[in-house]
Amino acid sequence: MAENKRGGSFYDAPQVAERYLGHRHSGVSSPNHVMEEPAFLEELGEVTGLRVLDLGCGDAAIGQVVLDAGCRSYLGLDGSAAMVEAGNSALYGTAGRVEMVDIEDFSAPPSSFDLIVSRLAFHYVEDIEPVLASCHECLSPGGRIIFTVVHPILTSHDPGVQGKRTSWVVDDYFLQGPRERQWMGGTVTWFHRTIEDYVALLTKSGFSLTSLSECAPREDRFNGDADELARRRRVPLFLLLAGMRA
Ligand SMILES: C[S@@+](CC[C@H](N)C(=O)[O-])C[C@H]1O[C@@H](n2cnc3c(N)ncnc32)[C@H](O)[C@@H]1O
Repeated sequence: MAENKRGGSFYDAPQVAERYLGHRHSGVSSPNHVMEEPAFLEELGEVTGLRVLDLGCGDAAIGQVVLDAGCRSYLGLDGSAAMVEAGNSALYGTAGRVEMVDIEDFSAPPSSFDLIVSRLAFHYVEDIEPVLASCHECLSPGGRIIFTVVHPILTSHDPGVQGKRTSWVVDDYFLQGPRERQWMGGTVTWFHRTIEDYVALLTKSGFSLTSLSECAPREDRFNGDADELARRRRVPLFLLLAGMRA
C-alpha cells in the first residue's frame, strides 16, 4: 500500500488538483456534472438563512451556489493547499471562505451549523465514525447532512483499465478497507465501505436517514449525447446519503 497520507495530500501532488478540476468541470464528459451534481442539488433544497459547512470542499464550487441562494454563511474545509487556494479565489469578494483543515481533525461548537455537505471526500477517510459524531455535535437540532462518495461498486475493485472503460469487475465487496487506485496521474488510497456500512454509520451517529440515491444519470444534462448517456447508465458511480439530526 502507498504511504499512509491523508486524502488532501494527494491533491497537492504535481498537477493533480489542476487535472481534477479540469475533469470535474468538463461538462457532459464529467460524471460529476451528469450524475452527482443533479442528485446533490435535488437533495440540497432550500438553503436560505442556513449556516453551511462543506467538508472536503475542493474549489468550493457549491459554496458559490449556496451563497447565491441566500445561505447565511459558508465555510469550506479542505486538506489540500492547492484546493484551499482555488476555493478562496473562487469565493473572493463573497461572505464565504475556505480553511485548510483535515476532515479527521475538524470540530466545532454545538449548534454552529444548520447544514453539512461533503461531496466525494468521505471515501478518503479511513474512519468516518468520529467525523459523523463531530457533524452530529455541531449541527443544530433538525440540521441536515448530505454527502456523496464514490459508489461502493467502484471502490470495491479497480479494473486497472486506462481510458474509457467497457467493463467493470466487482470483487472483495464485503471487505471494508483501503484500496489503492491509479487515478488522475497518481496513486490514491480510497477506503471501501458497502452501502449498508454507510447507512449503519450514519444512523449509529444519531442521524435519521432521509435519503439514499445512486445518482442515476440525468438525461437533460447530456446535451443530446445518446452514446454518453447509454455509457453512464451502465454502472453506478456515486452514492448519496442524507440524514437529519434529531
Ligand atoms: C474528489 S475531490 C471533491 C472536491 C469537491 N467536494 C467537489 O465536489 O468538487 C475530494 C476533495 O476532498 C479533499 N480531501 C480528501 N481527503 C481529505 C481529508 N482527509 N481532509 C480534508 N480534505 C480532504 C481533497 O483535497 C479534495 O479537495
